[in-house]
Amino acid sequence: MSERPYVIDKLISAKSIAARIEALCSEIRNEFSHADKLVVVGLLRGSFVFIADLVRELEMTVEVDFIEASSYGDGMESSREVRILKDLRGAIEGRDVLVVEDIVDTGHTLHHVMGLLRSRNPAHLKSIALLDKPTRREVDFRADWIGFEIPDEFVVGYGIDFAQRNRNLPYIGKVRFTD
Ligand code: IMP
Ligand code: MG
Repeated sequence: MSERPYVIDKLISAKSIAARIEALCSEIRNEFSHADKLVVVGLLRGSFVFIADLVRELEMTVEVDFIEASSYGDGMESSREVRILKDLRGAIEGRDVLVVEDIVDTGHTLHHVMGLLRSRNPAHLKSIALLDKPTRREVDFRADWIGFEIPDEFVVGYGIDFAQRNRNLPYIGKVRFTD
């Protein structure tokens, strides 16, 4: 959608993201120091850049799996009712699992996915989101690790899209309409 013209104002630089990921990875390594293997689960599609940088910085033995939940469609509003469009390939019972999300906004998506994965009895289940918009929350949910808290702005880049565009920007920017 959006034939409306817009520009993207830089909000978080690629360098800041890399530095934050380094710090987060040392915390994650400590949390999972008992684990000889970690299952890292990315939420498609927005987390694909974040998960790629995260697993390389982690320097742990990992398996990577993906799950896809319904989301915004092409608009800017959350659908609230979460459906699983693509499930994990692997079983997670008794495993150490880290779920990786791009943004926690209303909270519905990650809350739902974490509930579903918890019902499969992993040994240890944690979540990380690159971005958090706490002022938008509709359900009581907080990821175990957050990259950056941001204000209520629509953001793109570093895997995150607006109507499927701008995922390949190396930084996080906010959408500003110019009409
Ligand atoms: P929630 O269920 O409202 O927490 O929404 C989470 C999902 O909405 C994220 O996985 C994103 O895909 C999408 N989303 C939330 N905020 C933004 C944004 O600012 N830009 C692009 N996608 C967003
Ligand atoms: Mg998403």
